[in-house]
Amino acid sequence: MSNYHIKHLEEYFQVYRRSVRNPENFWEEIAEEHFLWRKKWNKVLEWDFTKPEVKWFSGAQLNITENCIDRHLHVRGDKTAILFEPNNPDEPAEHISYLELHKRVSKFANVLKDKGIKKGDRVVIYLPMIPELAVSVLACARIGAIHSVVFAGFSASALATRINDCEAKMVITSDGSYRGAKTIDLKGIVDEALESCATVDKVLVAKRINSDIQLKENRDEWLQPLLDEAYGDCVPEIMDAEDPLFILYTSGSTGKPKGMMHTTGGYMVYAAYSFKNVFQYREEDVYWCTADIGWITGHSYIVYGPLANGATTVMFEGVPSYPDYGRFWEIVQKHKVTQFYTAPTAIRALAKENLDFVTKYDLSSLKVLGTVGEPINEEAWHWYNDHVGEKKCPIVDTWWQTETGGIMISPIPFSTPTKPTYATLPLPGIQPALMDENGKEIKGNQVDGRLCIKYPWPSMARTIWGNHQRYKDTYFSAFENMYFTGDGALRDEVGYYRITGRVDDVIIVSGHNLGTAPIEDAINEHPAVAESAIVGFPHDIKGNALYGFVILKETGESRDRNNLRNEINQQISDKIGPIAKLNKIQFVPGLPKTRSGKIMRRILRKIASNDLSNLGDTSTLLNPEVVDQIIKEAL
Ligand code: WT7
Repeated sequence: MSNYHIKHLEEYFQVYRRSVRNPENFWEEIAEEHFLWRKKWNKVLEWDFTKPEVKWFSGAQLNITENCIDRHLHVRGDKTAILFEPNNPDEPAEHISYLELHKRVSKFANVLKDKGIKKGDRVVIYLPMIPELAVSVLACARIGAIHSVVFAGFSASALATRINDCEAKMVITSDGSYRGAKTIDLKGIVDEALESCATVDKVLVAKRINSDIQLKENRDEWLQPLLDEAYGDCVPEIMDAEDPLFILYTSGSTGKPKGMMHTTGGYMVYAAYSFKNVFQYREEDVYWCTADIGWITGHSYIVYGPLANGATTVMFEGVPSYPDYGRFWEIVQKHKVTQFYTAPTAIRALAKENLDFVTKYDLSSLKVLGTVGEPINEEAWHWYNDHVGEKKCPIVDTWWQTETGGIMISPIPFSTPTKPTYATLPLPGIQPALMDENGKEIKGNQVDGRLCIKYPWPSMARTIWGNHQRYKDTYFSAFENMYFTGDGALRDEVGYYRITGRVDDVIIVSGHNLGTAPIEDAINEHPAVAESAIVGFPHDIKGNALYGFVILKETGESRDRNNLRNEINQQISDKIGPIAKLNKIQFVPGLPKTRSGKIMRRILRKIASNDLSNLGDTSTLLNPEVVDQIIKEAL
């Protein structure tokens, strides 16, 4: 029986049962069979959720890039590893073979070494979706430097916060980026960020848009000449299985982003295993995930998972709407894409446009469709199924998180019958539990509760960089001996899971995980603002949009409301990035608060969604009168 190509539901259940009966054996078998280790482990798993501490494959040694590149060279050296599709459809696509990738990663790794980067140093990567992004990630992994990719849509101050938090020595960026018809001055953003970052002494700059930028002496250098000079082979650094591989920041419910730290061996095993299972990748397939490598989806399912399987992985620089709304489907036809993985927000945006944008392309190469990032609504699911998959492609609705490192709950194509809006069943090795508010596990079916995971899996984040206490408080304190996901979920009559959304102060906007606190912090810095609260409300395309309730200072009361709204959004855009802008801003005299001073977001959420039923007992509030007034003036 194969742990990979599961062919029917009964087989899934058999594998699953085996995986939970003896998880150590299950993972050991997978780790032995499919990877290249320089030294085998002494122990498969050591764990203690009370500390919390989790170690997979301790004592083992490896380099993940040997697994993603070197070991493929003699079997598929000429096969395309990365298929780069540029923003501009007239620019030719670039097919980077495994041999070519090996050379490019080696050269880049040698440049990093030459610039003084050593094992354990942090390198922040702030690049658009161009090959240098994947190559620089792998180059860091080659020499054991810890990469932290920051999505190149984040603002200078968000970038600076992340650089400072991980005390990066180097930033890798480009002169700019293309986004549809626009160009963005990335180097300018880096320059601004670095004004407040003392740890960075080198900036390597890739050339992409040929803009006229300034290089700061003794700090900035063009990348290409360095690569041209570098030697095309680089001996991989031998890493312990539990050595850090990367830090990736995700928003939390306090202002500071959380640097989720992932380690090497377990992450590799799980990213590779889940990729192969969930997408049922076969040797000739062309797999495309539309995410950005700045998110965990791109780390696990554009770079590491596919390459560890010797896959061809498409990297797309552009946006779904440029030069028109048919771009995704044009690319699917052009490269004969077999697996296509995207976000519900993109599907909803495209479903709004004329169907001709889809039907004029030949999508018959597609075998499996996937979604990730937020719950997919029924309408979008059907549109995807009917018009993109032409009812022949199973849709894998994959639930997971930056923290989990890999897909946790998802159908397995051609095995698990899909059900719209349901992520369905846990992957082998994953043990979900639903918990009630009193900390008791809810057994049986047709129940709902808070989603936890009760047993370690190889790709779970090991800590929050520099703040293990926060890691413990956020994920391991709500429920005893459980990892708490922050999501609510229901389990239907056959045991399928449906994720119902966050139960904390995180809002998913267009698939981006946004904490309310950092946005509120940004708003509150406006001189006219006294206090604010952000909630999400349902939005046709974004899934959720942001609604801000803002209390003005007396000095702000006389100001023009629309100007204030623009200024507040500009402030958010500067501090965090345009993705966090508010759709609606209501100026209010006060915010509903509990007696302990906690804002009652539940009430604000209802008002923002125009759902005034069951507001609950507001009389226990500190200031119940404010609720009526907010309702009266709601937008
Ligand atoms: C949160 C994690 C995992 C990569 C992208 C987002 C929500 C994610 C689904 C899904 C319903 C989903 C959850 C989760 N989420 N996938 N298939 N169905 N909700 O990673 O930024 O760490 O966000 O996204 O709320 O906790 P992230």
